[in-house]
Amino acid sequence: MHFLPEKLDEYVVAHSEEEPDLLQQLTRETYQKILQPIMLSGPYQGRVLSMISKLINPSSVLELGTFTGYSTLCLAEGLQKDGTIHTIDINEELEDFQRKYFDKSGYGKQIIQHVGNALNIIPKIDATFDLVFIDADKPNYSNYFHLVIDKLKSGGIILSDNVLWHGKVVEKLNPKDISTKAVLDYNTLLKNDPQIETVVLPIRDGLTISRKL
Ligand SMILES: C[S@@+](CC[C@H](N)C(=O)[O-])C[C@H]1O[C@@H](n2cnc3c(N)ncnc32)[C@H](O)[C@@H]1O
Repeated sequence: MHFLPEKLDEYVVAHSEEEPDLLQQLTRETYQKILQPIMLSGPYQGRVLSMISKLINPSSVLELGTFTGYSTLCLAEGLQKDGTIHTIDINEELEDFQRKYFDKSGYGKQIIQHVGNALNIIPKIDATFDLVFIDADKPNYSNYFHLVIDKLKSGGIILSDNVLWHGKVVEKLNPKDISTKAVLDYNTLLKNDPQIETVVLPIRDGLTISRKL
């Protein structure tokens, strides 16, 4: 969904960084071989993630929802030399695809893949994080927040994707629409939780930045 008029959106993209070649390849192969390629972060949001990661220069990152590894590689661009990313996805069929691109990227040794339900895996990771990217199943967003907040360092950042949920957050709620209800509850949680400060960016499907105090 474009929140800006299309022409302005094109202008914004044209005056932002170009997508690296490897990510163009990854996108092509995702569209050829993987179901629901629309889940990719995409070139513009990818450059936003890369820029935010470079500004933070994290030593440790946690990503929930690896998919084919696009956003993982964008976040990796800002990592410290000896920094690491833990990335979790429930779909085991994606693991080899991700690894192929992680190794091609030069960040392969810094990326630790976890296959399984993030709800079970997060508590088992013995690390604290400078940056967390939440981009897995929407109904669990609030659960993910509660699981990661104590592992986030003071001053650390949580990025949450799809927080405007195709604009549905301002439409009349269909009680059967579990995902929209979950995103609404999550946005309220981020706004009200005294441990963090939050701004919502109307980028692509909505990206929230929350900073731990
Ligand atoms: C929107 S995609 C992630 C896109 C990716 N971050 C990117 O930008 O290219 C969401 C991913 O979350 C994964 N997922 C869904 N439920 C999950 C869960 N409970 N635990 C871990 N991963 C989950 C899906 O398999 C899917 O690959």
